[in-house]
Amino acid sequence: MIDITKFPTIRTLLIFSLSLPFFIFESHPHCPIMSPVPISQINTGHIDDVQELRKAKPTLVPERFVRDATERPTLQSANRFPTACAVLDHDSYEVPIIDFSKLMKVDEDEGSWRAEILKLKRACQDWGFFQVVNHGIDLSLVEGIEEVAKEFFMLPLEEKQRYPMVAGTVQGYGQAFVFSEDQKLDWCNMFALGVEPQFIRNPKLWPKNPPKFSGTVDDYSREVRKLCQNLLNSIAITLGLKEGTFNEMFGVGVQAIRMNYYPPCSRPDLVLGLSPHSDGSALTVLQQGKGSSVGLQILKDTKWVSVQPVPNALVINIGDTLEVVLTNGKYKSVEHRALTHKEKDRLSIVTFYAPSYEVEIGPLPEMVDEINHPCTYRRYNHGEYSKHYVTSKLQGKKTLDFAKIIN
Ligand code: OGA
Ligand code: NI
Repeated sequence: MIDITKFPTIRTLLIFSLSLPFFIFESHPHCPIMSPVPISQINTGHIDDVQELRKAKPTLVPERFVRDATERPTLQSANRFPTACAVLDHDSYEVPIIDFSKLMKVDEDEGSWRAEILKLKRACQDWGFFQVVNHGIDLSLVEGIEEVAKEFFMLPLEEKQRYPMVAGTVQGYGQAFVFSEDQKLDWCNMFALGVEPQFIRNPKLWPKNPPKFSGTVDDYSREVRKLCQNLLNSIAITLGLKEGTFNEMFGVGVQAIRMNYYPPCSRPDLVLGLSPHSDGSALTVLQQGKGSSVGLQILKDTKWVSVQPVPNALVINIGDTLEVVLTNGKYKSVEHRALTHKEKDRLSIVTFYAPSYEVEIGPLPEMVDEINHPCTYRRYNHGEYSKHYVTSKLQGKKTLDFAKIIN
């Protein structure tokens, strides 16, 4: 049981969801008061730190990590494609690659800009995921963030636990989205921080060690934010909307970063690195660690497909907010999960970009037509969705039921 009196700074206690920052505070001029999950009522039971577990007993996989048979990855999919995909055209199961530099060059080379916009449109429509190359983020930052993340995870447990992820919250070091004693656990250690706007930050959770950690997160996040905003402009164009539609609607976007560290697991066929879920964000930017094992899988036409890391590319996916708002379901927020590997570890650095909490979300009128595309989502306050997301366990696309209009 967690003693809430130990957390007198509940006002500034920040929680943010796997994919959608959310925080608790008493009052803020731009946000309604939101009450957290009653933290004292959450009993998660003992949660093993997977890195420590692996060190102490390399072949042990405690029952709490063993998935039900229906959820387990097959050994084939733990390596590459699910068997069923192997018989299909290989290319059709590669996540599309978008050259970001071409999207930014409308004036110089209209032909190649147009072709890339079309590619982006197809990627959003058919996949909900794509990888961007030539994204313009300095290689030193891409490498730098990986370095500090790795250094952080390699610190002794006691030091990492100075920044604990309190039960029912999703910021700090630990496991997010655990709400009960009997819930299965992911084979993953996480470290998550709210980044922007400033008032969602909890400075106590920003580590002093490694010394370059905070500066690197700030520099990296600034660049990723620009990338998200530019991509949102291009995505608006693919929908025939005015370029600035989403950025204007989102206001000062909420941004969070989460680092996921997946140690090797002696039985990758029994566990999941990260449970299937869709992201609550508008856009997610995921960096796969260099030299990491292949682990990210997306649900494509009912099959789990691995996202093969492309050197220096970033993986982008459409989150729930874009599914609802932008497109009335035309662009999907695709379910994904992470697998582990028998010998190799894996690191991912994930940025979630979402609208400001006070924004009201609902399908854009341009995306609705009563005959062919009736409105399938209700309007809601983004902060409310955020709260709903972080108080639910990860369960595929279930959290979006919050917004679905059921006839
Ligand atoms: C996430 C996520 C997948 C990965 O953090 O939301 O989907 O590969 N991560 O770490
Ligand atoms: Ni995700």
